[in-house]
Parts: sequence; C-alpha cells; structure tokens
Amino acid sequence: MSKREDVIIKSEEIENQKRIMLLVNNINSDGEKYAFVETYGCAQNVNDSEHLLGMLEKMGYKKTDDKKRADVIIYNTCAVRENAELKVFGNIGALKALKRDKPNLIIGVCGCMMQQEHIVEQIKKRYKHVDIVFGTHSLYRFPEILYNAITKNERVIVFKNEDGKIAEDLPIHRDGAVSEGVSVMYGCNNFCTYCIVPYVRGRERSRKKEDIIKEAKDLAKRGVKEIMLLGQNVNSYGKDIDAYIDFPDLLNEVSKVEGIERIRFMTSHPKDLSDKLIDTIAQNKKVCKQLHLPIQCGSNKILKIMNRKYTKEEYLEKIRKVKEKIPNITLTTDIIVGFPGEDNADFEQTMEVLKTVRYDSVFSFIYSKRRGTPAEKMEDVITAEEKKANFDRMIELQNIISAEKNAEYYGKNYEILVEGVSKTNPDFLTGRTDGGKIVNFAGEKDLIGKFAEVKITKSHTWSLTGELV
Ligand code: 5AD
Ligand code: SF4
Repeated sequence: MSKREDVIIKSEEIENQKRIMLLVNNINSDGEKYAFVETYGCAQNVNDSEHLLGMLEKMGYKKTDDKKRADVIIYNTCAVRENAELKVFGNIGALKALKRDKPNLIIGVCGCMMQQEHIVEQIKKRYKHVDIVFGTHSLYRFPEILYNAITKNERVIVFKNEDGKIAEDLPIHRDGAVSEGVSVMYGCNNFCTYCIVPYVRGRERSRKKEDIIKEAKDLAKRGVKEIMLLGQNVNSYGKDIDAYIDFPDLLNEVSKVEGIERIRFMTSHPKDLSDKLIDTIAQNKKVCKQLHLPIQCGSNKILKIMNRKYTKEEYLEKIRKVKEKIPNITLTTDIIVGFPGEDNADFEQTMEVLKTVRYDSVFSFIYSKRRGTPAEKMEDVITAEEKKANFDRMIELQNIISAEKNAEYYGKNYEILVEGVSKTNPDFLTGRTDGGKIVNFAGEKDLIGKFAEVKITKSHTWSLTGELV
C-alpha cells in the first residue's frame, strides 16, 4: 500500500496551476476565446474532460462545438481498442488545414493513448501540427502545459511513465445534466491479459469519502438528482485507504446526501462482488436496481488465460444470488469475442451464458490487440472471419433476448427520471427507469429534472415508449 501523501497531489501544486490559470486568463482578456474538447471512451474520460473544460473556463475560454471557431482544440483519447485510436489519428490528421489557416490555434491530445510511449513518439514525428501532448497522469498540469505552449510558442510534450495520483479541487465544468458521474477511484490492479487500462491509468487509488460526499452535495445543490459512481473496479474502493470504508458503506454514505435520489455505479469486477454489496443494492432505496457485471467470456479455459480470476460457475452463482435477492434487477455485461486461443466451442459457452443469464443488454467487442499487454503475444486459433461471424451471431441472439426482456415492461407504470428532450424525436422527452431502461414519451419540457410516472405502451430492442400517467 502506498502512503496517502504520495498518492494525493500536493495542494501547493494545485494552487500553482490555479495561478497559471489566472495568467492565461489575463492573456485572453483581449477578446472572446473558444475551446473545443472531444472525448473518446469511458465515463472516466468524460469526467476528465469536464475537468479540462473547467480549467479552460477559468483560463477565459468558452466551450464551443464548432472546431472552426475554436482557439484550443483538445482530443481526450481512449486506448482500450484500436478502432478508437485510429479515429483519433484520423481526426487530428484532418486538423492540419485548420492549423494552416489559423496558426495561433492550439491543438492538443491527451488521455489514455498519451500514456503510451510509442503513440507519443508517433504524434511527435508524424503530426507536427499538434502543439501539446499529455497523458491522464498529467491532466492536473494542463494549465501549465497550455501556458507554455502559448507563451513560448513551442510544442509541449509531456510523457510520464510514473504512477498516477489523485488531484482534488480542480475546476470542473458540468453541462447541467440531471445525472452526473463522480469518480470514486482511479486505476486498476487486475491486469486482465487483454487490457491496457492498468498501464495507462496506473494502480488503484481511492478518493477520500469526504471529497466524494462533498462533490455529491455540490451536485445536489445544483439540481442533480442522480449520480453514477465511477471506477474501473469499484469493489476495490477503500482498500488503499487507512481509515477503511468499503464500497457498500460508501454507497450508504452517498445515499444520505439530500437531493440525490438515485445512485448507480460502474464497474464491478465479478471476483470482488460481495454479498454485502448485493444486500446493499437490495436494501438501499436510492441505490438503483441495476448491475453491470462484465463476464468477458463463458469458457473457463479462456477466463483463465484472460486472468479474470473466476470460473463461469462462480460467476453464475453470483448472478443467481443477485436475482434471488433483487428480483427485478437490470443486468448488463461486457463480452470480448475472439480472444487469442478462443475456439468455436469456447464461444458457444459464451452463447450459453447469455441464454442462462438473459442480460438486459450486452456490450460486445471483438478482441483488439494492445501493445505491451500479455495477450499481445498470444496466437489465434480461428480466423478473423470466424470471429466476425461469431460476433454477429451473438448480437443476433442478444437482440432477441433484449427485445423479449423489454416486452415484459409493456402495460406497466414506472417512475422515470426525466433527463431531457429525445435525440431522435424532438417532441418526446427521454428518461430512465430505476433499472436504467431508456423511456421516451410525450411531455412538457418543464418535466426535465423531475420524476414522472409513465405507462409503457411500446417496447423495442434498445428502449421503451410510454405515455404520462
Ligand atoms: N479488446 C477488446 N475489448 C476490450 N476491452 C478491454 N480491453 C479490450 C481489448 N483489448 C473491453 C472489456 C472491458 C470493456 C470496457 O472493454 O470488455 O470490460
Ligand atoms: Fe481492464 Fe480487467 Fe482492470 Fe477492467 S478489471 S480495467 S478489464 S484490467
């Protein structure tokens, strides 16, 4: 266990960054300045981008969705799969012309991709129009990095191959949503053999309970009704803090915050899912009846090579307990298809798990080789075409199950937390059930941010349609 004072970034350092924010703000006082931030990947990255935008705001930049208008463009990147990385390279490549027309434009890339040395090297050599590069561990130093890029008119490339820390008290920009993410811990100690996360996000480190509660209270004051507690493996929460409180205790503490009506969390590693957590979800009214429990694969042979530390049988036993104690729980999972060594018989076992558990929805991915992970050197036993065929067949099966599960909602009433106007139909509002199902229905905009009782009148594969009761 590392010492707490080594894990938390010193407050003097954060104060220093705040001073630099004022300096940049002064530089920008001569006119309107705009910043464009695009985020890839998970909810943690979204949360990091909110901090980037918070710092940018303090430095005098207004948020814009228009790259052409921007004075600063930042891509906050994800390294979990190759296709997200390729998209980032494509997007920054496309900025060359913009930079030519507007030489003072600052282009930055940050996030998980930038914690990998070979990627930073590639940007340095092949994307010379990129001005600043910094990884997740250097996020809190963004003001200093931007200041140097502006005032010295040179590229600032920060690559730090050290362990990540916790930066408290950074400015944050929230869009005024009804539901917001709150990080409770960072990093991961599990080293699943396919996964880049432990390398780019570092070791597990938990925020102090007091800091989390304070953030939840601030959000409640601003009208936020629901929070999503975030961490790569929330069940490890607190293990690195001396004054030990575990995740179920944290859930109970957060649930005491007045104004916060719903609490969700992501992600739970199946090996660490405790009876206490299951009981807490069952008993605490504010904890939503929803569980995301990634199984990754249904074959014990593959789970072992993945270093997941549970068998299919152990996983299914936990699911059985969850269903017994929380009968109407919404269950979701992650599946990787085509991990090295997975043959068609292994894959069929994953299909069997989907039929047994009957998840509400599944996030499925074709395995993507990640540099520096143990699986990088492992060999395939089936072809890419076979993997794709298996993947498609799995989606087909899951779509049927998802639609069947949604059909069970037909004709019943649910309490919906209204999140906003539907993206696909501007006449409709959109919100979620306690279990996290998306429900669209006709209603007045003043319902946004409130609870509404809705009767389900139609079910689809991915969502439900209803009408106000
Ligand atoms: N290839 C494909 N999917 C991956 N995931 C993590 N690493 C990889 C990889 N190399 C998936 C896992 C994880 C989710 C967030 O991303 O299913 O649970
Ligand atoms: Fe990656 Fe496994 Fe950690 Fe999840 S638990 S972030 S899949 S190493």
